[in-house]
Amino acid sequence: MDSLFRPFNLKSLNIKNRIVMAPMTRSFSPDGVPTDLVAAYYAKRAQGEVGLILSEGTVIERVASSNDPNIPHFYGTEALAGWQKVIDGVHNAGGSMGPQIWHMGVMDDHHSGWLPAEPFEGPSGFGRPGFKNGKAMTDSDIADTIAAFGRAAADAKRLGFDTLELHGAHGYLIDQFFWEETNQRTDIFGGKTLPERSRFAIEVIKEVRKQVGEEFAVILRLSQWKPSANTNQLAKTPQEMEAWLTPLADAGVDIFHCSQRRFWEPEFDGSDLNFAGWAKKVSGKATITVGSIGLNGEFLAAFAGESSQPASLDELVRRMDRGDFDLVAVGRPLLADPAWTKKSTSNVQPN
Ligand SMILES: Cc1cc2nc3c(=O)[nH]c(=O)nc-3n(C[C@H](O)[C@H](O)[C@H](O)COP(=O)(O)O)c2cc1C
Repeated sequence: MDSLFRPFNLKSLNIKNRIVMAPMTRSFSPDGVPTDLVAAYYAKRAQGEVGLILSEGTVIERVASSNDPNIPHFYGTEALAGWQKVIDGVHNAGGSMGPQIWHMGVMDDHHSGWLPAEPFEGPSGFGRPGFKNGKAMTDSDIADTIAAFGRAAADAKRLGFDTLELHGAHGYLIDQFFWEETNQRTDIFGGKTLPERSRFAIEVIKEVRKQVGEEFAVILRLSQWKPSANTNQLAKTPQEMEAWLTPLADAGVDIFHCSQRRFWEPEFDGSDLNFAGWAKKVSGKATITVGSIGLNGEFLAAFAGESSQPASLDELVRRMDRGDFDLVAVGRPLLADPAWTKKSTSNVQPN
């Protein structure tokens, strides 16, 4: 276990161990404002010795950046005052934290019937293949969205967060630009190749970097899968992955957070390296792995009602010791038990 309990230092990030709380939407911020309950929830995970907490996705200042009125905003006086309490509580408990900055893009309507005051927006109006539930963004929509990501980044730094994560995974706005099925644009934000369709992400990262300066650590979360297409791979070979990640790194990403549902699954044939392993190898950047760490079942099945049992951390430690990745994100175990980090290092059985 020792390799999981070494400190990690990168620019503004100085964390005591390698355990990261994965970003998890909770929908308990009425009208987008994180309450004292939200602050207490995160402080409890910091007290439980989590090295770095990534917040639930929190949305930027665009009218249609969210499909849920209880998802927190990362703009506006009241919401930012709520976030100030969150980060102060985490720091008081000896933890570190970054907000996960999010725009959902074209979404399904919320089950309550709540809708934003303007239509959902994305590269071409599609949330997934054949599902048009929004509008194609104009040049000025895109420019305003990039600026809104930048403002959120500046606010994260101003409030005292240690880092920030951009949500570029799981089929949301940034990922809708990456994916040929949802990005059918013929302008500079579209194109036949993944590097061409990365233009939007690159512009967002550059703006964020401009706002936070060189010394603030910026994380980008990516996934090869989407809820609507588990088997889809954006980069089908290591060469394609290198061509995808290099410009993102050059634009200012410090750490790639490589979302998998099961961390032990190899990314490409012929090697047991997972996504975080390949991302580190081809980009030279630090990476975070995630997906069913300490559990025998994955999270989408959990949403469908399946439960998971505790599983050994041996395979994780083997890969960590080999240097495949730098940090390890844990989701559901930290929902179930804020003290998971402490308990998993001792011989006490998690309950
Ligand atoms: C309740 C819940 C909410 C989630 N919300 C987000 C989110 O807001 N942003 C995100 O990038 N991933 C989200 N995820 C995915 C997690 O960050 C993580 O990648 C996933 O749960 C796999 O980790 P685990 O197997 O340790 O749970 C969510 C997962 C869960 C269980």
